[in-house]
Amino acid sequence: MPAKGVERSAVPTQNEPRSAAIRPTNASDRGVVVVGGGLVGRVTAWRAAQRGLPVTLVEPDPVTDPAAARAASAVAAGMLTPATEATFGEEPLMELGIRSAGMYADFVAELEEASGISVGYRTTGTLLVAFDRDDLAVLTELHGLQRRLGVAAERLTSRECRRLEPMLAPSVRGGVLAPDDHSVDPRLLLRALAAAGERAGAAEYTAAAEEVLSPGPEGARLGVRLSDGHTLPADQVVLAAGCWGEGVRVPGPVVPPLRPVKGQLLRARVPDGEPPIVHRTVRGLVRGFATYLVPRADGEVVIGATQEELGHDTALTVGGLWQVLRDARELVPGVSELEVTETCVGLRPGSPDNEPLLGPTRVPGLHLAAGHFRHGVLLAPVTGEAMAHALTTATLPEYARRFAADRTAAR
Ligand code: GLY
Repeated sequence: MPAKGVERSAVPTQNEPRSAAIRPTNASDRGVVVVGGGLVGRVTAWRAAQRGLPVTLVEPDPVTDPAAARAASAVAAGMLTPATEATFGEEPLMELGIRSAGMYADFVAELEEASGISVGYRTTGTLLVAFDRDDLAVLTELHGLQRRLGVAAERLTSRECRRLEPMLAPSVRGGVLAPDDHSVDPRLLLRALAAAGERAGAAEYTAAAEEVLSPGPEGARLGVRLSDGHTLPADQVVLAAGCWGEGVRVPGPVVPPLRPVKGQLLRARVPDGEPPIVHRTVRGLVRGFATYLVPRADGEVVIGATQEELGHDTALTVGGLWQVLRDARELVPGVSELEVTETCVGLRPGSPDNEPLLGPTRVPGLHLAAGHFRHGVLLAPVTGEAMAHALTTATLPEYARRFAADRTAAR
């Protein structure tokens, strides 16, 4: 079985090394330095550049710094599923997700126009199914929460589920159809954001960020010291490096701890000439485990994912992949016929309360765009909008204030 999830070939082309020292560092050229080339960093860079701010995005070379290849964005399946990923106790986060999902169609149209790259946005909805009686009880509770949140979610019998998805196992107990829970290809999104950012004037610097230098008396400036010895001076810095950002020293206790939540998943293909195995995203509860199959138009199917709290461990394990395949096959036995094309592992950045950390910290000019946990792809449009607002006004828009970066205890 090919296992290339952390090899260079698994990384989108926008992560490939570029020449360094792109942006001169004279005082008139200061602006925003964004640390992190995942979706959150790139959407921030694009939106800030569109607002006329000089922007430099800093991202390590994935060959010399493999952590960059294991970032969450290039591994993610790309579900935009605020209804079927609704979680009790996380209603405000879900409301932010619903807002961002509502922005997606316009966001994609603007980004595709700006970049010339199609991002694989599919508006085919999501079917959430239950494997056994206990899973069905959970699904029924979840449907109540979905209704309270006001998202479209229709309860279906087992037979109705199989009418929509004929490859589902006959034993599936029932489901919920969420017609507005869509998907996108995060790798194409990364590429498009990189191209749109570049066209909007954002520069890119290939190096690891090591330290944010604080502004101080006597003209000392905010800046980012890099692994190659250079320092990029800045008026504002955005830390957007997911849970790999904790290696960046910061002036003072302003960054809450981000816990890495490991996800192992597979990419597979329907054999040539065969019909799609599923027609929309199928999520399932299988004996309490959450599983999903996300189909793409070109026949790729992403099957995921584990959720493991093991620090920065990025080992692909037999047990992790077996769990993913076991549960997917319970729901859709035909997954056995798929050709595995790639195994992947990434680390989701979980904040202490699972909510993102956005906007200014207590260090003047230093912002966070971090802690997006399971929802980085979904929250990309709203994050770009909120961060551009923060970088131009030093405040967050009203709807994002709950997610302020300085709300919680920091390292
Ligand atoms: N949002 C899907 C995942 O984190 O696995």
